[in-house]
Amino acid sequence: MAAGLGCEMRLGRKRWTFCTISVLLIFYKTTERARSDEHQEAQLTSEGELSTSRLMVNGSEKAVGKSLPAYLQSEDWKVNATLVAMIRKDILHFLDAEKDVSVIKSNFKPGDTIHYILDRRRTLNVSHTLHSLLPEVSPLKNKRFKTCAVVGNSGVLLKSGCGKEIDGHDFVIRCNLAPLAEFAEDVGLKSDFTTMNPSVIQRVYGGLRNETQRERFVERLSMLNDSVLWIPAFMVKGGEKHVEGVNELILKRKLPLRTAYPSLRLIHAVRGYWLTNKVNIKRPSTGLLMYTMATRFCDEIHLYGFWPFPKDANGIPVKYHYYDLLKYRYFSSAGPHRMPLEFKTLKTLHSKGALKLTTSKCR
Ligand SMILES: *[C@@H]1O[C@H](CO)[C@@H](O)[C@H](O)[C@H]1NC(C)=O
Ligand SMILES: *[C@@H]1O[C@H](CO)[C@@H](O)[C@H](O)[C@H]1NC(C)=O
Ligand SMILES: *[C@@H]1O[C@H](CO)[C@@H](O)[C@H](O)[C@H]1NC(C)=O
Ligand SMILES: *[C@@H]1O[C@H](CO)[C@@H](O)[C@H](O)[C@H]1NC(C)=O
Ligand SMILES: *[C@@H]1O[C@H](CO)[C@@H](O)[C@H](O)[C@H]1NC(C)=O
Repeated sequence: MAAGLGCEMRLGRKRWTFCTISVLLIFYKTTERARSDEHQEAQLTSEGELSTSRLMVNGSEKAVGKSLPAYLQSEDWKVNATLVAMIRKDILHFLDAEKDVSVIKSNFKPGDTIHYILDRRRTLNVSHTLHSLLPEVSPLKNKRFKTCAVVGNSGVLLKSGCGKEIDGHDFVIRCNLAPLAEFAEDVGLKSDFTTMNPSVIQRVYGGLRNETQRERFVERLSMLNDSVLWIPAFMVKGGEKHVEGVNELILKRKLPLRTAYPSLRLIHAVRGYWLTNKVNIKRPSTGLLMYTMATRFCDEIHLYGFWPFPKDANGIPVKYHYYDLLKYRYFSSAGPHRMPLEFKTLKTLHSKGALKLTTSKCR
């Protein structure tokens, strides 16, 4: 059903209405939560099917794609440090990225049972392999950075020339183990924190079933250069064999990286924060998760590769991912994410100086 939804965001004592949009409100059956974790990907990306997909802006209905999304004003963007501090404080009421970024060794012992976060009836046993890879302390303990980049995987990055600018940030967060080497000019190489959904192992690395696939995977991981590999291993059942395979490989090859596995409360806490601000996101994308976490330890957050539209502002088609041919519908009722709603929220935060979204070429 289509319904008007007034969104307002509450920040500290100040309340401001920042959007009045209509979205298709979809009420998920619980079974739908367990859908492919493909959808957890950060990339605000993909070819949308536009015939039935409509987004209301300012009360006037527009078929997205007919009227093109406008470029963001970025020339005179300035960080609002007061607002950044307020948002950090607000988010800290819901989660502390320093703790929630990963479970740690002392939380579990081998043989412990974990209930999957989005499918509580199913369980996972903590193996010796998994346990030995749990960090002793949070990988973000006492971290503080002047500027951070959160890099989504939208095709909008292609021909952006943003690689240098991205690599210039103090801390670079990347999503879903996206390829870098072939796209360095547009996406950069520096990686301090890289997420990886278990589904990538099957989809991109053939389940690590033969030596060729394993070598390709090891080569990609070597690009992490001792940084953090963040694996959401406790979301839904299905990826546990892959996670175990990855963990075994990391141990066997002594790969130079640090593993992290998000806490069992992270996703609920992030959702809670946005819900309280009237942003009703059933399941935040990895990109939104990363932004939310980054507020804890970054003074300035720059987002790249976030673009949930099939075309750019000039009407040129934009790939869902910069690196493959995957196609998703941004406005589909089937997926768990609300990419366009997330994007609208981020755009508002951009205009207030809380974060910087880059959706066009870099200089
Ligand atoms: C939204 O409404 C305001 C005030 O009525 C108007 O100035 C603005 O152009 C509208 N924006 C859009 C995207 O329609
Ligand atoms: C920064 O944000 C705060 C809180 O929203 C606001 O009161 C202040 O006017 C903003 N400052 C600038 C320079 O925009
Ligand atoms: C976990 O371990 C218990 C006992 O060791 C076993 O009965 C159960 O089947 C295991 N569960 C899974 C999901 O492997
Ligand atoms: C490994 O598997 C991939 C895909 O499953 C296949 O294309 C490739 O030929 C295999 N390589 C070897 C050496 O078996
Ligand atoms: C790898 O990490 C080291 C130490 O942090 C750094 O000096 C080096 O530039 C990094 N290499 C790459 C390719 O990112």
